[in-house]
Amino acid sequence: MKHKLFEPYTVKNVTLKNRIVMSPMCMYSSDNQDGYAQPFHLAHYESRAAGQVGLIITEATAVLPEGRISHEDLGIWSDEHIEGLQKINEGIHRHGAKAGIQLAHAGRKANLRDEIFAPSAEAFSSSMKVPTEMTKEDIKRTVEAFREGARRSEKAGFDVIELHGAHGYLINQFLSPLTNKRNDEYGGTRENRYRFLREVIEGVKQEWEGPLFVRVSGEEYHEDGNTMDDFIYFAREMKSQGVDLIDVSSGGVVPAAIDPYPGYQVTYAEQIKKGADIDTGAVGLITSGNQAEEILQNERADLIFLARALLKNPYWPKEAADELGYSLEGPRQYNRAW
Ligand SMILES: Cc1cc2nc3c(=O)[nH]c(=O)nc-3n(C[C@H](O)[C@H](O)[C@H](O)COP(=O)(O)O)c2cc1C
Repeated sequence: MKHKLFEPYTVKNVTLKNRIVMSPMCMYSSDNQDGYAQPFHLAHYESRAAGQVGLIITEATAVLPEGRISHEDLGIWSDEHIEGLQKINEGIHRHGAKAGIQLAHAGRKANLRDEIFAPSAEAFSSSMKVPTEMTKEDIKRTVEAFREGARRSEKAGFDVIELHGAHGYLINQFLSPLTNKRNDEYGGTRENRYRFLREVIEGVKQEWEGPLFVRVSGEEYHEDGNTMDDFIYFAREMKSQGVDLIDVSSGGVVPAAIDPYPGYQVTYAEQIKKGADIDTGAVGLITSGNQAEEILQNERADLIFLARALLKNPYWPKEAADELGYSLEGPRQYNRAW
């Protein structure tokens, strides 16, 4: 039997040893509230690499301090952040895994003491702050921060950059008609709502020639939100700008009750893959080797992103290999158990 989950995947100059990706997960563990990586981050990411994950994408990392979800988020808004991120990467690379970073800005979903910014001055919910509507100058400064984030990511030794365009954070706030109420060239039509992401990608590409992924929410769970047709339009634009893969999640744009089931978001990854002819990553309640294999063999997505399954078990790849009857090499130190 073929084991597509354990086949390598090449994107630009980078080859992942298998199709298993650690999905970005905020750990809220930058304990001094300065964005710096802590010993916890080193152990957390290296252990998943020892577990033979192919690509580890670190948690949402803020390109500006006001773009943090919480005060404890990792940051990349200064050159001083590079060293800690470099150490995370060394640990990941020691085990033959590749390292990705998720560059992020929370926009109106920043839960911070200071002023927060978004495309429009509407709060996410009554318990959240009302953001300040971004001026053109704010937009320029933020695009520049993503560019600088990409430059620092390269210096820190990352192999992949993922832009966080999902879950109702800043990029998503520009993309969605539910959150973007602007009357200028950044709002209104979908061409205009895409403009901010277009400029962010252009900025990142000035500094970064490696693989570029973008995470989107492929369903907004609201009748006035973006449709699959809009997401296919966005994905085509991204493809023409040189984005390599769309990581397809859902939700988070506006409060909504979601009733998830195994693989509940895979259909969005599949529709974008087919509709825009671009590689995709599937994520969301994927928990077994067989389930992952089905998605890959049926060409519904190209990479399998796992969050909670890997949080629970850093050796998930071994569990999946056993389930699929594949002989997976592990760290030599663990041979007696492996
Ligand atoms: C603790 C935790 C933190 C998360 N933080 C992020 C994040 O920083 N960026 C992101 O795009 N998604 C984040 N997510 C969402 C996951 O990446 C993933 O899309 C989601 O959990 C569904 O996958 P799963 O069913 O495998 O957990 C987080 C999820 C969890 C459980």
